[in-house]
Order: sequence, then structure tokens, then C-alpha cells
Amino acid sequence: MAEAAIGEEALREEVDRLRAELGRHWRLAEQKERQLERYASDLRETFKAERARTDELHASYVATVRALTNAVEARDAYTGRHTERVAAYGLELTRQIDPELAADPQVEFGFLLHDIGKVAIPDGILHKPGQLLPEERTLMRRHAAIGHEIVRDIPFLDQAAQVVRHHHERWDGSGYPDRLAGVQIPLAARIFSVVDALDAMTTERPYSPACSIAQARSEIAAKAGSQFDPAVVAQLAELPDHALERIKAERP
Ligand SMILES: [Fe+2]
Repeated sequence: MAEAAIGEEALREEVDRLRAELGRHWRLAEQKERQLERYASDLRETFKAERARTDELHASYVATVRALTNAVEARDAYTGRHTERVAAYGLELTRQIDPELAADPQVEFGFLLHDIGKVAIPDGILHKPGQLLPEERTLMRRHAAIGHEIVRDIPFLDQAAQVVRHHHERWDGSGYPDRLAGVQIPLAARIFSVVDALDAMTTERPYSPACSIAQARSEIAAKAGSQFDPAVVAQLAELPDHALERIKAERP
């Protein structure tokens, strides 16, 4: 009888001890949970602040690129919003060819800044109505290398600088400034040269009327393999007319 009472007593003590221990564990777990919630909330705040800083930085990059672009457009007014249009055509085509490349902001910056080197070309050559003399053409062609020099040391434009330098290279290697051929030419620059031609052909200039998008497509297709990358030209053929027409209508 006495033994049974001792056994029961010991059991109750053991149950109390376990209950107390469970309570301790429970409180500890609650503390840990609250601590984790605080960490998570701190992380969310840090992430939000970091995101805001990144957005701010990106916005200032875009504003800088716009300011540089305007410096060229202001001197080359007859092309209207050529730079914006060509950048929009270029992005549309890049998205189709390589979405990952299109997501790199430097590609758009390169498209927008392609002719930045023209700031160094005298007005008399830049606005000459007739054909350029050979030495004037040589000077005019320097805009690609000059543009590259202007932007290459800006850290957020180092890749864009490649488009600026190579936007007049030709697939067959007869372009400038480096006479690169085929896939030696950066893809973004190969895409750019196609959409630059598309915009030139479909925009009215003092020396030539605008042609239709269909006409421009077939003229560009005729130069696939000589001036242009055939794979890029094939992708241009896949872009629907309405996508190109919308870009043109929105940026007269
Ligand atoms: Fe150019």
C-alpha cells in the first residue's frame, strides 16, 4: 500500500516535471517564433529599401541616357524621334530573338546612344544636303569610335558602348570602324543595324520619301548575308506589321 502511494507520488512528480519542461519548451518556441518574425520583418524592410535604391539608381541612369540622347537629337532634328523609334524597334526584335538580352537595360541604352559620337561632327558635314566628299565621309564615320570613347568608361554603359562602337559594322565585314564580320559583331549591334535601316527606310527624309514597312522588309531581306545577319533578318520577318506600325505611330 505504502509502496503504491510512493509510486503514485513519483509518477505525479514526474508528470509535473514533464509539464514544467513542456511549458519551458513552449515559451522558448514562442520566443524563437517572435524573433524569427522580427528578422523577417527587418529583412522585408531592408529589401524594400534596397529595391527603392535600385529603382532610384535605374531612374537616374535612364535620365542620364535621355540627356545624352537629347544632345544628339537636338542637332539632328529632321529625323524626328528616330532614336526613340529605333530603340523601340530594336527592343521588340531583341525580345523575340533573345529575351534575356532584351532584359539587360544596357541594350536599350546602347540603342538610344548609338549616334552619341555625332556631337563631335561639324554641322556642315552633319547637315550637308548632298553627297559627302570622301574626306567628309571619313570624318562622319568616326562618330562610331568617338561615341564609344564617350561612353565606354561609364560603368553602367560599358556594354552599351559595344552597340555604339559597332552599329555600322556589316555582316560581310565591310563595315566600320573595326570591319568585324558575322558573329564577331555583338548581337545587339547586329539587331540594331537591321532596325536602324528599317527606320531610315520608313521615315520621310529630305532626300528620300518614306517607304512602307513591307517594302522595307523586302529591301532588308535582299541584304541578308551581305549587310545584315540573316538570322536577325529572318526574325524581323516574324515580327507582325501591327507591332512595328504601333511603334511608328506612337513616336512620330
Ligand atoms: Fe550611326
